[in-house]
Amino acid sequence: MSTSTPVFPPASEMEILFSTQQIAARVEAIGRQITADYAEHSIVLIGVLKGAAIFLADLARAIDLDNTFDFVAVSSYGRAKVSSGAVKLIKDIDNPIEGRHVILVEDILDTGLTLSYLRGLMLQHKPASLKIASCLDKPERRLVPIEADYVAFKIPNQFVVGYGMDYAERYRGVPDIRIFPSNVAGH
Ligand code: IMP
Ligand code: MG
Repeated sequence: MSTSTPVFPPASEMEILFSTQQIAARVEAIGRQITADYAEHSIVLIGVLKGAAIFLADLARAIDLDNTFDFVAVSSYGRAKVSSGAVKLIKDIDNPIEGRHVILVEDILDTGLTLSYLRGLMLQHKPASLKIASCLDKPERRLVPIEADYVAFKIPNQFVVGYGMDYAERYRGVPDIRIFPSNVAGH
């Protein structure tokens, strides 16, 4: 573990990976796809706090189906950029999902540990169906076999912030997706 103090460079100095317009276009497309795939069924969107909150808010408005929200929270990486591998549920769903069509909504599918844990947990509740929507996908980083059904962008192994995604809880409110510089001390 690093002993240096984290440094938080301004987001304006970071390279933009995806602009707000690019994000909006992909979210609209996924929303249309989900609307078509579920034809008239009502769905439950389950967001993984906190990173998926902004993606879920936009996705819900791009889906033309009766939908409800719920949220789960799992243990985070804290200030480390690499996962310990251990995932712990901090907040469970509020409402039953048995017999419902569920979409788990995540910010990034990285090693896959978080989503495979959550998928297993949600399947125990016997939903009618369970799919995964992830804003970003880093396929190179996968440690366990899991794929998302809906992905806005596939990216290489780069650390990104913005559009809900953080580095040590910062930058979640940055409206576009930016590359966090790899030469910054403290991680
Ligand atoms: P996984 O269990 O490794 O798939 O972890 C996924 C989680 O790691 C995401 O929900 C993010 O919170 C976090 N994460 C992975 N890559 C990044 C990144 O580039 N920026 C910010 N958070 C990330
Ligand atoms: Mg997260």
